[in-house]
Amino acid sequence: MRSATECMHRALLSIWLAVLFFLLPSEAYRDVSDGTLKALPRPGKDFDIHDGAILSPILIPRVPGTPGSTKVLNHFTDFFRTSLPKWNVEFQNSTYVTPVSDGKEVPFVNFIAYRDPPNAAKGDVGRLTLVAHYDSKYEPKGFIGAIDSAAPCAMIMHAMRSIDDALTRKWESMAPDDDFLDDHIGIQVLFLDGEEAFKYWTDSDSLYGARSLAQHWDSEVNPGMSVYKTPLSSISLFVLLDLLGSKDPIIHSFYSTTHWAYQKLANVERRLRELKVFKSSGKTWFPDSSKNERQLSGGSGNLGDDHVPFLKRGVEILHVIDYSPDRPSGFPTVWHEMQGVKDDGEHLDTDTVEDWSLLIAGFAAEWMELEGFMPGSKTEMKRNKTEL
Ligand SMILES: *[C@@H]1O[C@H](CO)[C@@H](O)[C@H](O)[C@H]1NC(C)=O
Ligand SMILES: *[C@@H]1O[C@H](CO)[C@@H](O)[C@H](O)[C@H]1NC(C)=O
Ligand SMILES: [Zn+2]
Repeated sequence: MRSATECMHRALLSIWLAVLFFLLPSEAYRDVSDGTLKALPRPGKDFDIHDGAILSPILIPRVPGTPGSTKVLNHFTDFFRTSLPKWNVEFQNSTYVTPVSDGKEVPFVNFIAYRDPPNAAKGDVGRLTLVAHYDSKYEPKGFIGAIDSAAPCAMIMHAMRSIDDALTRKWESMAPDDDFLDDHIGIQVLFLDGEEAFKYWTDSDSLYGARSLAQHWDSEVNPGMSVYKTPLSSISLFVLLDLLGSKDPIIHSFYSTTHWAYQKLANVERRLRELKVFKSSGKTWFPDSSKNERQLSGGSGNLGDDHVPFLKRGVEILHVIDYSPDRPSGFPTVWHEMQGVKDDGEHLDTDTVEDWSLLIAGFAAEWMELEGFMPGSKTEMKRNKTEL
């Protein structure tokens, strides 16, 4: 039991902090320091395409409903259970008849992992959501899909492992009854199934997993009085990584409402390059970073990808895809390629793949406000809110 004055005192404190939060948005989104960026761990051996613990198990054919798909799912589950045991792991399943399944239902399994701050009710947490598809193309037989999207899955796994201890330290430093707004920021990983078409890309032959999950999360409701009505609205930003792992990627900004997040990502990339943390040389990956919202060329809804069912339901999207209208297919040369320079582990640009995982870690560390808790941070553990 607390005294009435103490309750009043805390209520006033909360109001004051809420006001402060809105007056000082920069406080709520603090850049990570150079020290933090320099100390980000490189994946190194874990991204070896032959026997690397994170990447190599994904570089197999993983067509929905086949043993390869199950193996990769098990790899994700094992990784989170052993390396990230504080995360919750869930699956969301569906079945569809496909153009090649002879009228039979094919199972699709979306992998979901999330970690929320300790004191927040489930429906009150907005989650930074990092997304890639893990299935590979049905045809041609033996297709690997390294940039599409084995490597993006690996990048996300490594990035989450790089910030996990800092999340723990940040959340342990909070007083048990702390109720600050920024304590309601969670993080979530989606590895989606069935992105690829089995035959020809159509609305019904593609995005199987994404369509099912978006629909499911739109219809499910969070407990009454929750800040977010549905699991779908709990997605604060849907960051979709696709076709990443070739050298010199070109990432455009497609949405004016998330251009600020694109610029944050581009800013972390510029700093990692300037600090010589990046191994891949070359120019910036984010050509739209100095444009303003009105100078963007338009949405990526016409690029059929896993964001579409979420975009249609009003989710904020940051589509991180290597795409340029100046290229023949728009996509990297290895895209859906089975001859010669094909989309397999051998044709990944290792430095670029590793650099991507550092960039995602740096971006996520900023979003989750982990400065002070990351290795190399300028100020270690300065934060003790009860002293405010
Ligand atoms: C979904 O499928 C996976 C893999 O087959 C299985 O392990 C899991 O129990 C299923 N989950 C639900 C909720 O049915
Ligand atoms: C925060 O400060 C209070 C008061 O000085 C102290 O009792 C508490 O142990 C501190 N908590 C942490 C996590 O350092
Ligand atoms: Zn593809």
